[in-house]
Amino acid sequence: MSAAGPTPARQLRFEIFRYDPEDPASTPHMQSFELEEAPYMTLYIALNQLREKQDPSLQFDFACRSAICGSCGMLVNGRPALGCRTLTAGLPDVIRLHPLPVFKLIGDLSVDTGRWFRQMVEENEAWMHAAQPFDPQAPEQRMDDDLAQAIYAGERCIECGCCVASCGVANLRPDFAGPAGLNRIARFMMDPRDTRSDADWFEVVSNSDGVFGCLGMMACHDVCPKQLPLLEVYAYLRRKMLATGLR
Ligand code: SF4
Ligand code: FES
Repeated sequence: MSAAGPTPARQLRFEIFRYDPEDPASTPHMQSFELEEAPYMTLYIALNQLREKQDPSLQFDFACRSAICGSCGMLVNGRPALGCRTLTAGLPDVIRLHPLPVFKLIGDLSVDTGRWFRQMVEENEAWMHAAQPFDPQAPEQRMDDDLAQAIYAGERCIECGCCVASCGVANLRPDFAGPAGLNRIARFMMDPRDTRSDADWFEVVSNSDGVFGCLGMMACHDVCPKQLPLLEVYAYLRRKMLATGLR
């Protein structure tokens, strides 16, 4: 009887989108790389090994390596995901990586999500509108625990852009607030410190660039790496808009 030896490591093939929009000589194409899989290898580890040992020009973004900074979103075999928390063990032998759509391409897998989020925030005034200026000496105001939890749920968004990239409407219409935008709007709408009126909110969100632009395909909900309750957010926004009685 022969003793079974250790299982040989898988040989992974990476098919990676390459393109530098700043270089007139560059054209979009896929490039193949081979890499031996290691235990607990993430796409973060794999891409760094490819860049260190095979091609130093490979562009991609990572900062925190722990699903906090939101910079490593990419299409992994066609599905938006965070590279830093995607284990190669859960992927087939051939791994195709593309940059997230919707966002401005910087190069290869690197995109500028900040530009999209800034524009979304400015167009929807998605920041606190308080009637009184902030007074650092004022006593702390208490908030109902359930409400605080609901606001916190929205605050957990890391602005990775995975939901936006998965959204058919956001892919077609640059002015659509998108899942992350609607989540951010809802976060301020819930907050009693934001003193905007029903009519103000109706203007922001009750149109086809806001919550009524959503076609309900719900890919955003499936891909969000922080499991934000996006379905509940849209239901909340729709109920609030209907309750205004405005048309
Ligand atoms: Fe990323 Fe989820 Fe925030 Fe969308 S809602 S940007 S998927 S964390
Ligand atoms: Fe920060 Fe992946 S590196 S979320």
